[in-house]
Amino acid sequence: MRLRHLHGLSALIVASYACVHIANHLVGLAGIEAHMAFMSAARSVYRLPAVEALLLSAIAFQICSGLAFVIRGWKQREGFIQWLQAGSGAYLLFFFLNHVREIFLARFVVPVDTNFYFGASGFYVPPFQFFVAPYYFLAVLAVFTHLGCALYWQLQTRSRPARILAIALPAVVGFVISLLIVLSLAGVFYPVEVPSGYKAIYNGQTS
Ligand code: HEM
Repeated sequence: MRLRHLHGLSALIVASYACVHIANHLVGLAGIEAHMAFMSAARSVYRLPAVEALLLSAIAFQICSGLAFVIRGWKQREGFIQWLQAGSGAYLLFFFLNHVREIFLARFVVPVDTNFYFGASGFYVPPFQFFVAPYYFLAVLAVFTHLGCALYWQLQTRSRPARILAIALPAVVGFVISLLIVLSLAGVFYPVEVPSGYKAIYNGQTS
């Protein structure tokens, strides 16, 4: 029970960052310059060493505690909602490990500025678009769905339709937001010219 509370607490920290981060990608619907300007302002807060350390610690804790829940509840889990929560959580676990690793490799090893072009680059180096499109789409959708599942368990005293709505609404909103972000990165709303240095990362020509 204590671990579950701590998992919820660190989820608040991760979710706060996720809100800013997803808002940043939504601002990107207005164009690359708008995306970059928002990111530059947001970075002045989330790239403060203390803030970044707190965020990364919360993510590490989220991964470890989430893994413990997935393994511990494997045999007892029953019903669609429990599996939806475990499935979206397991995907986030995979995504966090991969996403944070690739961002830090790009920042400190390549090194490149991990801006809009970094997020978009995989869409412009075939066949990686077939990986990055579902990879990002499912990440944003999983954030909303996972939070909706947590809300469902919080609303124990409410009617069944109200509890179902607590999951369905975030999932539908997440679906639409995911789709818009992926389409903007894929260049559907405006042309995107990714500099060759970013594409080279996918072609393995970074050293
Ligand atoms: C469309 C989906 C996504 C794209 C294209 C994307 C892209 C990026 C980019 C470009 C950065 C670098 C930011 C910077 O340098 O300031 C970043 C950082 C990060 N992203 Fe995402 N992201 C996506 C979804 C998510 C989601 C759903 C999460 C979950 C919370 C997430 C968590 C993070 C974290 C933790 C960092 C590192 C922050 C730091 O300490 O600098 N991302 N992402």
